[in-house]
Amino acid sequence: MIYLNTGIVPKNKALIPVFDHGFLYGDGIYETMRAYKGVVFRLEEHIERLFRSAAMISLKIPKAPGEIKQAVYETIKANGHMEAVIRLTVSRGAGPIGLDPGLCPVPTFVIISGEFRKYPVRHYRNGVKIAIVNTRRNFRGALDPRIKSLNFLNGILAKIEAKNRGAFEAVMLDYRGYLAEGSISNIFFVKDGTLCTPSVEVGILDGITRKIIIDCAKEAGIKVVEGRFRKEDVYNAEEVFISNTTMEVMPAAEVDEVKMPAQGEMARALHKAYKRKVAEYIRTPRHTHIPGTSSLKDLSF
Ligand code: PDD
Repeated sequence: MIYLNTGIVPKNKALIPVFDHGFLYGDGIYETMRAYKGVVFRLEEHIERLFRSAAMISLKIPKAPGEIKQAVYETIKANGHMEAVIRLTVSRGAGPIGLDPGLCPVPTFVIISGEFRKYPVRHYRNGVKIAIVNTRRNFRGALDPRIKSLNFLNGILAKIEAKNRGAFEAVMLDYRGYLAEGSISNIFFVKDGTLCTPSVEVGILDGITRKIIIDCAKEAGIKVVEGRFRKEDVYNAEEVFISNTTMEVMPAAEVDEVKMPAQGEMARALHKAYKRKVAEYIRTPRHTHIPGTSSLKDLSF
């Protein structure tokens, strides 16, 4: 079952016009979220980021945050999902050929919920391979990576390179050669016990998982540096890991043929701390409202 514009429809009825500018131009935005035990983790932050992305492309989302929250829960409930990955997409909508957003009066709003398929345990136990690819991350002044946009060719080109090199994830540098981010993830590395990650100013998506990891590290008394780094910093790191909503914290065993010396101790510790945040979140009553319960409409954020 899919949420399309105003309500739930069966998958085979969830159709979008070929004139949708999301399809024609990649004109739109999205969020990927994860539900644990039927609770969508950090839903408020994802909705906030959705609205920020929308504002950055002058797109008016046709729903209020509370209505979106309700629609997300309706979707996972309609599918009976407890462990889910949820994709919320808002495109410019259908309109004649042409770039002018004014051609599309009504945005298209879609929520897809799928059963969460776990990554193989060996990815976490042994670490994955990462390739620092030749494709550079989009320049902020052209298409700011803080916009979680439907235009994903930058990441796709990076992914193709990584795949050709047998790597699980592609990591991109920015146009100046500073470490930026993965095709669908943020990157961290550890040097002399300090946790390092590219700062948002480099031109990356400020991942929600990234922020939680930084919080966890600070709470554990680990020094965190958000800055500008080169790929050599990654090669010389003690450990490396990547993060996103579905991977959470995934260690890297190898970066461009360079084997990481450490066994991912900090990654493991931070992953545990992350899991604790999830557990805390899902047992907080105000996060566990399901549509149909009287108090949902009282939620405000
Ligand atoms: N991707 N950087 C990029 C380019 C991303 O696409 C993502 C997320 C992240 C991590 O963000 P978060 O921690 O908020 O998930 C960083 C999602 C998972 C996706 O594309 O489906």
